[in-house]
Amino acid sequence: MSSSPYQESYDLSINEPENFWALAAQKVHWYNEWDKVLDDSGDHYKWFVGGCMNTCYNALDLHIHNNRGDQLALIYDSPVTDTKKKYTYRQLRDRVAKVAGILTNKGVVKGDRVVIYMPMMAEAVIAMLACARIGAIHSVVFGGFAAHELATRIEDAKPRVVISASCGIEVSNIIPYKPILDEAIKQSSHKPTTCLIWQRPQYKANMLPWRDIDWESEEEKTKGVDCVPVLATDPLYILYTSGTTGSPKGVIRSNGGHSVAMKWSMDNIYNAKPGDVFFAASDVGWVVGHSYIVYGPLMNGCTTIVYEGKPVRTPNPAAFWRIVDEYKVNVLFSAPTAFRAIRREDSKGELIKKYNLDSLKAIFVAGERCDSDTLKWIMKVTKKIVVDNWWQTETGWAIVANPLGLEEMPIKPGSPTKPMPGFNLKVLDENGKELGAGKKGALCLKLPLPPACLMGIWENDERYRKGYLDHFKGYYLTGDTGYIDKDGYVYVLGRMDGIINVAGHRLSTGEMEEIISKHPDIAECAVIGVNDDLKGEVPMGFIVLKQGIERDHRGIVDGAIALIRQEIGAVASFKLACVVNALPKTRSGKILRKSLKELADGVECKIPATIEDPSVLDHCKEVIATLGYPIIKEKK
Ligand code: COA
Ligand code: AMP
Repeated sequence: MSSSPYQESYDLSINEPENFWALAAQKVHWYNEWDKVLDDSGDHYKWFVGGCMNTCYNALDLHIHNNRGDQLALIYDSPVTDTKKKYTYRQLRDRVAKVAGILTNKGVVKGDRVVIYMPMMAEAVIAMLACARIGAIHSVVFGGFAAHELATRIEDAKPRVVISASCGIEVSNIIPYKPILDEAIKQSSHKPTTCLIWQRPQYKANMLPWRDIDWESEEEKTKGVDCVPVLATDPLYILYTSGTTGSPKGVIRSNGGHSVAMKWSMDNIYNAKPGDVFFAASDVGWVVGHSYIVYGPLMNGCTTIVYEGKPVRTPNPAAFWRIVDEYKVNVLFSAPTAFRAIRREDSKGELIKKYNLDSLKAIFVAGERCDSDTLKWIMKVTKKIVVDNWWQTETGWAIVANPLGLEEMPIKPGSPTKPMPGFNLKVLDENGKELGAGKKGALCLKLPLPPACLMGIWENDERYRKGYLDHFKGYYLTGDTGYIDKDGYVYVLGRMDGIINVAGHRLSTGEMEEIISKHPDIAECAVIGVNDDLKGEVPMGFIVLKQGIERDHRGIVDGAIALIRQEIGAVASFKLACVVNALPKTRSGKILRKSLKELADGVECKIPATIEDPSVLDHCKEVIATLGYPIIKEKK
């Protein structure tokens, strides 16, 4: 094997994981070092067992201790409210300590859960760090989710406190969050004792005096509290993510392993150094936001940008470039969808020319597959290196990337490059046999997983084992399919299950089917993800009506669309649905979703030998055409 820096690191991490990660852990501040680097005696891989630390201390206080207290920690840039605000590490620490004080006064102690339902404002980051400061476990819920989704998470996490804001702002639409929160608490059997609400001037929330407290006035009169030491293996947060069923999975992330992986990845993958400005244009509701808006940049002493806006329309497709120029951003990270949206409105990159992008070292994309065309376009118009990286909520950081801080490898568009240290990636066939170069199969990780990967599913060990570990003994199932080429480059092709990625947002088609089935006129349905030029994928629903339903089909379809918006939220982008006479099924009754997707995407649809009635597929094809699919692109 060649002895390139990447290869050396990778080999060491696989052959001697404990030595590799113990060395990486030296960069984290510990009150007490660990007794054991890795405990792999059970199903739950525990890193740095016995180690004692605090994530918030590492993200804030440590920099103040090291005389960097006056360096900028966070820039809040909000075109939707016309606000810009800057916080030094000291200023941010002081606010976080006070909010931690409020939580302590409300009885929150180490191990308690706090749900955070916030728009992209500095206070969202402050709330997360305040929890980490006192060892409370935060669970951030994306602001685009409706009351039902929020209720499910409150029900499962059982928070003592919920932190929220009166509203979010989507371009120019005010989305009142507080009524959504009130409705969610009404739907949940678990009731938090306190709701801490940031009142925004755009919408004043109605406060319930026995439960709700005004954040701003409470913060003014509260004294800051210190960091509470926690064990490395204590949970830092729970982040719910879509699974194959209606109930989301609470991915648990521990404090110690997470800090070590954040530090390692900031240095070695993103090549971001202390003092660098890091702009992850995502949302704190997603894992990218947790890792690279909040924890990674702050732990590494960078300045992070909290952007409350869109890549386009706030006010134009130059929003990202304006920010890069204005704050001298060194690293930009977003989803391919964001760049597709920019490209749609500024295909020649004319607006880019108006801004100085000299500070920018690289652009990273993740959250969904990045098509070669989009990757090449970003490189062409920005003249920057563009790195795709593949990961998931469960891993917390990149499984596959191009580690620019360690060794910049040649880019092959369409591939996120190579597995990162600790991720022993294999391609397996359906019998669990390892496949050779170029062969497509299930992308699996040989155990143990490296630090920061999920410690389990919140209060659902069975789901953790069944969903990830039981498929192939000794491996973690990522749920993605793909292959590794002869040079070791990884290609991710798509999911094996009912998960789809809509504008970088992970959604469950199974959950959509469960919701649509609640409609009184609907007998059964199938939801698939169809290719979309902007959002990567969008959901499309096929509905079979109950016998004897004579009502206008359009009304029923609209009702199903409204149900998804009401229960999951606008973020599902569920707008395409149709009524069919029957769903294509195998003789054993399994719905042939793959065939429906092939028809809608306009790719070759091989009629499965097990199909019960081939004429159903012909009928579905005709109905799909009424929705304007497949979209036939003109050859350029
Ligand atoms: N709070 C409330 N509503 C939200 C929301 C939030 N945080 N985020 C999205 N929504 C709503 C939108 O307003 C929209 O509602 P509408 O149907 O009433 O118009 C709906 O959810 C769909 O939103 P979105 O998927 O963002 O589509 P869009 O057409 O508004 O914008 C893009 C398209 C490409 C600009 C946008 O999807 C985008 O910025 N994508 C990047 C995603 C990203 O960063 N993902 C993070 C993973 S790394
Ligand atoms: P999430 O947990 O929301 O981050 O979504 C994770 C899923 O998104 C993965 O399992 C993949 O299916 C998809 N995904 C994320 N990043 C990439 C990428 N760079 N390339 C291909 N698919 C990706």
